[in-house]
This record gives sequence, structure tokens and C-alpha cells, in this order.
Amino acid sequence: MAINHHVSAYVDLILSDMPEPRVIVDATLGNGRDTLKLMQRFPRARLYAFDIQKRALEISRQRLLSHGITEGFTFYCASHEAIPRFVDRPVDLCLFNLGYLPGGDKKVHTTPRKTIQGIEGALSILSPGGRILVTLYPGSLPGKIESIEVEAYVRGLDQKKTTVMSVAPLNQKNQPPYLLVLSPYQG
Ligand SMILES: C[S@@+](CC[C@H](N)C(=O)[O-])C[C@H]1O[C@@H](n2cnc3c(N)ncnc32)[C@H](O)[C@@H]1O
Repeated sequence: MAINHHVSAYVDLILSDMPEPRVIVDATLGNGRDTLKLMQRFPRARLYAFDIQKRALEISRQRLLSHGITEGFTFYCASHEAIPRFVDRPVDLCLFNLGYLPGGDKKVHTTPRKTIQGIEGALSILSPGGRILVTLYPGSLPGKIESIEVEAYVRGLDQKKTTVMSVAPLNQKNQPPYLLVLSPYQG
């Protein structure tokens, strides 16, 4: 597969190297582009998605319907720190694509505290070979603050319990998005 400087290529790279997930969580549904890609790529998976904006759920439902996808997903208008309350089975793949709803209110940005609580919750129900992918956007001030705090949190995770990787472009100008990959330690 082609490697380029888009963070979505890093996500594809990580996805291409994992067994087919059965349970997927999209922790930041937004306009539903990630959810659509995941459902097209893994049509047998069950997907649960979260967003605090009702509008995001409506747009995403419409996006899936327009691609003929009518089942296999459940959307919650809820904050991602509540993931373990809604998803009662082991999660194989969980995506956090941080920031604000593209085309929406930029002030409704993901926040460090809730993102960290969300990652903690997702880790608590991650299957043994599961992965959490977190896309960070340090190019804006709220995104920068969030990147610093989320990175500090994941750096502090016990290496005997969780493997944490960063996939970041090194020769791109400004402050490009990058990806964190978390997975239960497998020895
Ligand atoms: C960058 S967008 C996600 C992009 C999306 N995955 C897509 O494919 O279009 C970030 C989304 O996170 C949502 N969000 C912000 N805080 C949240 C929270 N605490 N829990 C769940 N979603 C949240 C925002 O409403 C916004 O829609």
C-alpha cells in the first residue's frame, strides 16, 4: 500500500496489519466518514459510535444510508468516556479522531480530560489483540493542548500492560496530525 503524509494513510497501515475486527467503536463519529470506511472495510463487524452532537449522528446516519448500509451499527449521542457503559463486549478496534466537527462549530472540540477518560474506558474493554487509534491535531491551540495532555497520559501507561506507539511525519512543515496506537501488551 502507498505511504503518504496523510494521517489516514497511517490508519490504513495499522488496519492492514490486524485480524478482522468483530467489534468496532468510533469514539468520535463526526460526519461519519471514518465509520463509513470502517463498515465498508469490515462489513461483518458490529460498530458502535459516539458523538455529543445530535447533528453528527444525523449526518452520519444519512451517509451510511446513502451507501446502502442500514444495519450493523448503533449510534449514541453520548460522550466517549461512557463507552464501557454502552458497549458490553470486548472491543477489537476503537478510533478517536479528535478535534471539531468539520463544517460545524469549531468551539465544540474534544477535550483532554474526556478524551483521556475515553481512552481509559476503551482500554478497560479492549480485547487481547485489540487496538485503539488516536488521531491528534496539534496544528490548532486546542489541538496542541490536547496532544500534549493525551501524550503525557499515554507515556505514563504501564509498559507491561499497554504498548503505545506514535506514527508521526518527521519532515512536514507546521504541526501535522499524527497517530497514537495503543494495544494490550502481548509479551
Ligand atoms: C474531528 S471530528 C471526527 C471526525 C469523524 N470521525 C469523521 O469521520 O467525520 C470530532 C468529533 O468529536 C466529537 N466530540 C467532541 N467531544 C466529544 C466527546 N466528549 N465524546 C464524543 N464525541 C465528541 C465532535 O462533536 C466532533 O463531531
